[in-house]
Amino acid sequence: MDYFLYKDGELFAEDVSVREITRAVGTPCYIYSARTLARHYRLFDEALEGTEHLVCYAVKACSNLAVLKLLGDLGAGMDVVSGGEYMRAKAAGVPGDRIVFSGIGKTREEMELVLKGGIRQFNLESEPEMRLLNQVALELGVVAPVTVRVNPDVDAKTHAKIATGKSENKFGIPISRAREVYAEIAKLPGLKVVGIDVHIGSQLTDLAPYKAAYQKVAELTEELRAQGHEITRLDLGGGLGIPYEQNNDRPPLPVEYGAMVKETLGHLDCEIEIEPGRLIAGNAGILVSETIYVKEGEDRKFLILDAAMNDLVRPAMYEAHHDIVPVMEPAPGVEPDRYDIVGPVCESGDTFAKGRDLATMEPGDLVAFRSAGAYGAVMASEYNSRPLIPEVLVQGDQFAVIRARPTYEEMLNRDSIPEWL
Ligand code: LLP
Repeated sequence: MDYFLYKDGELFAEDVSVREITRAVGTPCYIYSARTLARHYRLFDEALEGTEHLVCYAVKACSNLAVLKLLGDLGAGMDVVSGGEYMRAKAAGVPGDRIVFSGIGKTREEMELVLKGGIRQFNLESEPEMRLLNQVALELGVVAPVTVRVNPDVDAKTHAKIATGKSENKFGIPISRAREVYAEIAKLPGLKVVGIDVHIGSQLTDLAPYKAAYQKVAELTEELRAQGHEITRLDLGGGLGIPYEQNNDRPPLPVEYGAMVKETLGHLDCEIEIEPGRLIAGNAGILVSETIYVKEGEDRKFLILDAAMNDLVRPAMYEAHHDIVPVMEPAPGVEPDRYDIVGPVCESGDTFAKGRDLATMEPGDLVAFRSAGAYGAVMASEYNSRPLIPEVLVQGDQFAVIRARPTYEEMLNRDSIPEWL
């Protein structure tokens, strides 16, 4: 459920008219709903009630400082995968002991940054990383708390580009090798084991793969404990899917996920960490775009928008579906038109949807891409020298620009021409 609803014939973000926002900031723009973000965070928090837990929001989904501050103030931890994300979490006021550091390619510089700034745990993904972290921690005279991300070889049954839990994927350490790795860590004085980590993929729409992976983690926990390792924390990753097609999709709810977690892992008496990104931010954001032209093709109509694949890459990259709705609600009974909905970028991949039914559009008419809050703005680029688009946060009847659109001048000033040219 989100707070982008029609009122008096037009789309609102909470209590603010989307049209009013676009008049102030222009198009295209991202709009986030604070109430929706908070609601989604609380759904996870409540789903794990009764178990010691920390919901570590996956910063990669939407990393604007205002979004991080809102979630951090509610008590969320953060899952970060780079020095940049760590700095964002800290700048938003989240203390180091609520930040977990994931990712397969952590550099020495990132390890130093995070060890100095404070960290809840590193989720280790390989033996070379483990040895380097030990070295860096010893150099700094600290002990790094760690989990090992295990790869359980489970098929998450999601898009191939976002599945991470099969043995062919680059992530984690094969679960079959985990015992040896934990034995080696126990001998490294710069590291201290705190638990086990697993993350099998994103946009999961079925609980069965999760359950299969978590059962393997439960077995491993008992084995490692029997070998004398202190396993007090289980980081279960993120990945719970969201309904992208409002009228069709019914992915499992956080409360169902939470019940499955308690059933599968509850007996171990571990603190549970989860790393949801998409479910918190996805349906808390829309991308608003204006129609530039309606073009008649040979056998179809093209709706040419001012947003493009550089602003929202998911359709081009994963063939992802986003519901696209008119900002002005069509009058009841009016037949829709059928469009290929495209952006102005010079490649055919810059297509958001083919043969999509939508109210009749004219130049100047606004549309909203739903479910664009996660992996939207964060994956944007300036391809075709299109400036990054603004982000706006709404709360109740107020809104604020939380990232401004750069001017052409600002964009050009980031380059420099060497003197000798
Ligand atoms: N934890 C780890 C270690 C991850 O790699 C990810 C996502 C998450 C948590 C959060 O997963 P979520 O709850 O958001 O599904 N750009 C793609 C999604 C990439 C996900 C990468 N890892 C997309 O637009 O669908």
